[in-house]
Amino acid sequence: MTQRYLRRYKDATRMNHWFVAILFFAAGLSGLAFFHPSMFFFSALFGGGQWTRILHPFFGVAMVLGFAFLFFTMWRDNVLDKNDVEWMKASPAMLKGDKSGMPPVGKYNAGQKLVFWVFGISLLLLFVTGFMFWSPWFVGFFPILVRRIAVVVHAASAVALILSVITHIYAAIWIKGTVRAMTRGTVTERWAKLNHPLWHKKMTRGE
Ligand code: HEM
Repeated sequence: MTQRYLRRYKDATRMNHWFVAILFFAAGLSGLAFFHPSMFFFSALFGGGQWTRILHPFFGVAMVLGFAFLFFTMWRDNVLDKNDVEWMKASPAMLKGDKSGMPPVGKYNAGQKLVFWVFGISLLLLFVTGFMFWSPWFVGFFPILVRRIAVVVHAASAVALILSVITHIYAAIWIKGTVRAMTRGTVTERWAKLNHPLWHKKMTRGE
């Protein structure tokens, strides 16, 4: 029997996604170099301490702008609904291997949607707070107390973003056949039927 494929992402969306992913690693590793002395060795990847300090904010701004395009392409498919509450209630059993109580899913499941919104909120906070202590350009506009709070919010948002990206990558690898959605743009019909039956129905018009 020949395998049929369904298109999940346009080429432009995939390029956009990998642009954001590469910049996430650049911004993340350069930022971790300043987070704790034990991680300062990451600065060697960017040409030493001074270059890391210069480049980090530019990596961050490029990542956020790249994500803004992804956000506007995808936000409609990530709006949470009643079905997602059912999915979340049934998800502890699914993690133990029992999928019987899971409601049918559309283009994205509730876990993916939550991760999407954590990406959006944490990136927005990183962007706004990063400007507040970007020396020497913008730092002078903000009083010291505001800058101190901004540093803490920046670090906390980075932790939230890094944890949600780890979850995102783990889920992409854990659910077999998902990675090709972002490498080739297509998924097998079997994958769609199994993991996103409502999306499969929409794509095949119930054939
Ligand atoms: C090596 C790192 C990464 C891998 C392997 C990866 C893999 C994937 C895969 C396979 C999909 C398709 C999932 C599906 O269609 O069901 C996807 C979607 C997506 N990825 Fe990534 N990704 C990575 C990094 C990132 C980063 C750093 C971000 C943003 C900060 C990101 C944001 C997204 C978004 C917004 C989607 C759309 C799906 C959704 O809303 O849940 N990805 N990724």
